[in-house]
Amino acid sequence: MSKINVAVIGVGNCCSALVQGVHYYRTSSQRSSYGLMSERVGQYDAKDIEFVAAIDVNQKKVGRDLSEAIFLDPNNTPRFSAVPRIGVIVKKGPLLDGLGNHAKELIHVDSSKPSNISELLRESEAEILVNLLPTGAKRATQYYAEQALKAGCAFVNGTPSKLASDKNWQKRFKSARLQLVGDDIKNQVGSTVLHETILRMLSMRGVRIDESYQLDIGGGMESLNALDRDRSIIKRKVKIGTVSSAVPYKFPIVAGSSDYVEFMKNSRTSHFWIKGKYFGKSEFTLDMTLNVVEGPSCAAVLVDVIRATKIARDRKIAGTPIAICAYGFKQPPERLSFDEATRLFGEFSAGRRRKGS
Ligand SMILES: NC(=O)c1ccc[n+]([C@@H]2O[C@H](COP(=O)([O-])OP(=O)(O)OC[C@H]3O[C@@H](n4cnc5c(N)ncnc54)[C@H](O)[C@@H]3O)[C@@H](O)[C@H]2O)c1
Repeated sequence: MSKINVAVIGVGNCCSALVQGVHYYRTSSQRSSYGLMSERVGQYDAKDIEFVAAIDVNQKKVGRDLSEAIFLDPNNTPRFSAVPRIGVIVKKGPLLDGLGNHAKELIHVDSSKPSNISELLRESEAEILVNLLPTGAKRATQYYAEQALKAGCAFVNGTPSKLASDKNWQKRFKSARLQLVGDDIKNQVGSTVLHETILRMLSMRGVRIDESYQLDIGGGMESLNALDRDRSIIKRKVKIGTVSSAVPYKFPIVAGSSDYVEFMKNSRTSHFWIKGKYFGKSEFTLDMTLNVVEGPSCAAVLVDVIRATKIARDRKIAGTPIAICAYGFKQPPERLSFDEATRLFGEFSAGRRRKGS
């Protein structure tokens, strides 16, 4: 069975959970499909993912083996799997707009010269570049996408920066015969998928939605980053766009991160409120709380998305395969309902829908 050579940009909380998760599901004594969204995607197991390169700017992480860097401060996602030495040293990338004002106070940027990223990707034989930069790193995301194009790598955009949902980038990857999937991972157990699902269910059952909000507080760097409203506005827009697409009319809605609480570490509490009317204009309210750890919830989806992107690469499908984008991301080039996206993804991975559209 061939391996899937993956390079990662941003060795933060999501990367930590992804690296830990791949090792967790590789270790035979621990291995079971429990917690995976798909045990197999096509012919690929989670254990087929191989990390071949990693890039960051944090002085503490650059120069360290990936297996150590994932556990270094300010990363605070839980350690759920020991990870043996991987033999991949974290390389320095260019900072550009990678860090927001709050993060800059906590993170010392490594002073060494940035690596030549396209060369690093070629030399490490990376097939897929996974972008896990902080929200708001628009220029840095575009820079790394250029490097992927130069090196002949597929690009997975886990961040809300517009790439797979941008026509120009779609064209560029398609004409380079490469895959571009994104944007903004939709968590396995997350506030967006839950909010969207409940609203869709209520709407399908004839309920009129009057108003709704979903406000998150958390202690990861992404929650700190969200205090920087100029940087995090894009995330709010993506969340609101996804959630409101569940209901076929406009209604007042707010969705996004509202505060940073350091001691919560990488966990996030989401408060949901829905007010509406059902039979005979009877009123109801729904008030609900969800608490999850962010990193693993993102990594679960990435493990599927990476395997599906490899299948697209094997089948020489270029551009933005909708079966992967609509399944794994909040802002795909084309939005599908959760059920439809899951069905399409299953058919694509089983080879019944070879082109993923
Ligand atoms: N469940 C989730 O956490 C979740 C869900 C959906 C989307 N996302 C997206 O995933 C991304 C990563 O989230 P996270 O929680 O891992 O963030 P994080 O802040 O923990 O990690 C980001 C990493 O990127 C590094 N970085 C910053 N600038 C860089 C540059 N120019 N080059 C290389 N590295 C750089 C930082 O040093 C840090 O290690 C975010 O964009 C977030 O919106 C996360």
